[in-house]
Amino acid sequence: MQVVHTRADLADRLAGTERERRAVVMTMGALHEGHLSLVRRARAEVGPGGLVEATIFVNPLQFGDPGDLARYPRTLDDDLAKLASTGTDLVYAPDLTDMYPAPVTVTVDPGPLGSQLEGALRPGHFAGMLTVVAKLLIRTGVGVAVFGAKDYQQLVLIRSMVTDLDLAVGIVGAPIVRDPDGLAMSSRNRFLDPGQRARALGLSRALTAAQTSAAAGATAGGVLRAAGDVLATHDVDVDYLELRDPDLRASPAPVHGDARLLLAATFGSTRLIDNAPIRFV
Ligand code: PAJ
Repeated sequence: MQVVHTRADLADRLAGTERERRAVVMTMGALHEGHLSLVRRARAEVGPGGLVEATIFVNPLQFGDPGDLARYPRTLDDDLAKLASTGTDLVYAPDLTDMYPAPVTVTVDPGPLGSQLEGALRPGHFAGMLTVVAKLLIRTGVGVAVFGAKDYQQLVLIRSMVTDLDLAVGIVGAPIVRDPDGLAMSSRNRFLDPGQRARALGLSRALTAAQTSAAAGATAGGVLRAAGDVLATHDVDVDYLELRDPDLRASPAPVHGDARLLLAATFGSTRLIDNAPIRFV
């Protein structure tokens, strides 16, 4: 595995390789099994002769809260060891000036969805995220990019950006990887104390209860109540709990077929998100 820190070195390394045989997994580091599952998926996309790239960059443009940015975990050596043992070929880990040589004035507008759900609580977050994803797609020059469904709204917005801006890249969405007890893996889980972690289990349990109630014929109202009851039992006060269609359009509320249930909650100073598919019968 080769590690490069500059855009110029990345371009040198990519010279002579084919775009269609390159895949990328973009991360902010502090890697866990969720990230590594994306690396394996990227390998499956390009095959043994292809080039699997990973990027590690904690993007200030997508953090509204300076405290959140300052305490975001940075574990580069550990991350590189994990990427190497998962079969990554090339890591691009730029510093701030390599990524943003000059202050950014033009960003990618996420549209109306950018100020809903996560975007309502984190103004500017999705514009910052899409901007760095666009830059990384251009710099890594890939045919395929793999993102996790853990950040479902992010995945939907990246797909829209690629469609709306005619970007020549395939976007693959990969399933959420969870701890054995159901908690969705996240770089932020390390900040939870045992009591907060126990309460945080309410998130995945609420989603499971919602899925079970939909499978048993519940309406949208019943599904939301099933989730809400579990959250209350776990003493979780959510930032939002919303049922939407799979493209996250705000209305009309889904009543049949496929839907997505999304939620977010804060435990101490740690904000967690989770989501799951809901199928109305
Ligand atoms: P980060 O939070 O590091 O996540 C990197 C990728 O890993 C994203 O595609 C995310 O959805 C995926 N991921 C995280 N936890 C996962 C889990 N438990 N199961 C499956 N996939 C998981 O998302 C970002 O970074 C940034 O916004 C980024 C896209 C890198 C742009 O800065």
